[in-house]
Amino acid sequence: MKFQKSPGTQDILPGSVEKWQFIEDKARDICRRFNFREIRTPIFESTDLFRRGVGETTDIVEKEMYTFIDRGDRSLTLRPEGTAGVVRSYVENKLFGDPEVSKLFYVGPMFRYERAQAGRYRQFHQFGIEAIGSVEPALDAEVIALGYTFFTEIGLKGVGVEINSVGTPAVRAAFREKLLAFLEPKREILCKDCQSRIDRNPLRVLDCKVDQQHFTDAPSILDSLDEECSIHFEKVKQSLTDMEIPFTINHRLVRGLDYYTHTAFEYKAEGIGAIDTIGGGGRYNGLVSDIGGPEQPGVGLGLGLERAVLLLEHQQTELPNLNEIDVYIVALGEAADREATKLVHQLRRQGIRAERDYQGRKMKAQLKSADRLGARFTAILGDDEIARGEIALKDMSKGEQRMVAFTAIAQEIKG
Ligand code: HAM
Repeated sequence: MKFQKSPGTQDILPGSVEKWQFIEDKARDICRRFNFREIRTPIFESTDLFRRGVGETTDIVEKEMYTFIDRGDRSLTLRPEGTAGVVRSYVENKLFGDPEVSKLFYVGPMFRYERAQAGRYRQFHQFGIEAIGSVEPALDAEVIALGYTFFTEIGLKGVGVEINSVGTPAVRAAFREKLLAFLEPKREILCKDCQSRIDRNPLRVLDCKVDQQHFTDAPSILDSLDEECSIHFEKVKQSLTDMEIPFTINHRLVRGLDYYTHTAFEYKAEGIGAIDTIGGGGRYNGLVSDIGGPEQPGVGLGLGLERAVLLLEHQQTELPNLNEIDVYIVALGEAADREATKLVHQLRRQGIRAERDYQGRKMKAQLKSADRLGARFTAILGDDEIARGEIALKDMSKGEQRMVAFTAIAQEIKG
């Protein structure tokens, strides 16, 4: 019997995993600079948390959750996204007692039962951040800027930021009426998805990829904003301009999760088939209290790491070579083999990335390995070298060779 990975999951193999390490390191480094601290929450949570947090009528909750009953008869769900779990943890651990805004980040797998295609998986990874405890529009802008900085610093080109305001629930309710008046007469000519969305979540109709030609005269939610929402949105735009983060306004932008209020945004880029959204987020002023916490506003984002990796590949971005070996010790003979074991271990303990042969191969084959692994230095170890306690260390980029005492190899390599 042969086993294969489940549809929509991926093995990330050596050769590819270095790209992941590179972007995850970047994410951590950027968070450190923006003063976001890591939080690790469970991979599964109670199903009700996502129902309540993400929203009963969202695609995620209606169709995409990996839900199961455990042996204790609890309904649990593999997290489809990170925000609900972080907010649950924020409430449960009373992080609201901290006078500072809680600025948190996470990197990890999420699970959605979606139709798998390039850039869309059932297990995928997000880099996410959540800033809870302030209504300040500059914080919305900071979150947007952080995501933009991430994409820029990993080397992606052509990333656009689209922003919108989805207002407060009251604003949305009023807009919904206006929108329904516009959509109802068109119901018959719209696609099946749109028809069912008109009844369940009319704002999302405007998001439809196939029916855009019918929406040119659709009302804009931005014309329905009340004063508070307008001022907030203006200030977010102002802060983005001040930070020189380029953005466009898309009044049809509606996110697939129900918790958003005020600012909603997405990062877009061409190059992954039909998919052009590589990240998104927004403000969620009602979520903390919705799941039983105090009235605390929040804002955050989630960036898709598979999509970032695919785009790096598509754009053929040069990444630093994280996989370079410092030194390959070529051992010839039994005594040299023993010495190589010792030497390689000592070098590794001194911070050197050292490798050797494990297959008793001839010199030529060992040198080939050194080359394949991109070793910066190679050294040939035989009986003479052992007797002298010295080895000829060859700098492969310069082609220069030098006799070095065993005890000085690490120093020589570090330069
Ligand atoms: P989301 O828009 O559902 O937002 O997901 C964020 C990003 O995760 C997407 O833009 C995409 O890059 C990636 N993503 C989503 N589903 C898949 C999939 N099936 N395969 C590959 N990548 C995927 C959220 O999850 C919110 N929690 C973001 C947020 C945080 N809002 C506030 N705080």
